[in-house]
Amino acid sequence: MVDAVDAQASLEGVLKDEILRMYQEIADDPTAEFHFFHGREAAELFGYAPDVLDTVPEGAVASFAGVGNPHLRADIQPGETVLDLGSGAGLDAVLAARRAGSGGRVIGVDMNPAMCRKAEANAAAAGASMECREAPMEKLPVDDGSVDIVISNGVINLSFQKRRVIEELYRVLRPGGRISITDIVSGKQLSQNIVNDPKLWAS
Ligand SMILES: C[S@@+](CC[C@H](N)C(=O)[O-])C[C@H]1O[C@@H](n2cnc3c(N)ncnc32)[C@H](O)[C@@H]1O
Repeated sequence: MVDAVDAQASLEGVLKDEILRMYQEIADDPTAEFHFFHGREAAELFGYAPDVLDTVPEGAVASFAGVGNPHLRADIQPGETVLDLGSGAGLDAVLAARRAGSGGRVIGVDMNPAMCRKAEANAAAAGASMECREAPMEKLPVDDGSVDIVISNGVINLSFQKRRVIEELYRVLRPGGRISITDIVSGKQLSQNIVNDPKLWAS
């Protein structure tokens, strides 16, 4: 039993390092080769309007690494408090901040400090305001019942503790709050060589 716990802890550590490395690479050099869609091509594929993308800083669009478009169902209203789980380079956070307006608030959470600073800088350059908190999504630095809506794009699949993440989302949501996430789900049990490959898990 102790061996299994130790093995999981060590796999989690390796996975965390790989996630930090891979998303840092997308942020630093979005033109590099990745084996998944990213950047403007991915955003347009997922229904982000080209004319809207034109109004967002190039860095946020080029380093976009989502798997869908949580805004299609989010219906963010002026004045709402939005939590963007795993805010990355900030494309989703910028769009959320525009919808929430000056009376609203966007809190990003990302475990990568460089991503957090990048998202805040991209938001400021877009004339929007967001605050990014460096933290793991499994332990959100957000008060109970303080959020109107959670958005997230391709992030929860990266966690080893998905149930814990969902519990955290329900803790921070106010009664009647909403969740609009796009993510990856497999209908089949993945083979062990995929599960144990940090590169595949991280992407
Ligand atoms: C797929 S990107 C998010 C895309 C983003 N919404 C956008 O607009 O480009 C994934 C982000 O989740 C972050 N992340 C991955 N695992 C995390 C964890 N356990 N806790 C917090 N952030 C995490 C990564 O650092 C990365 O910035």
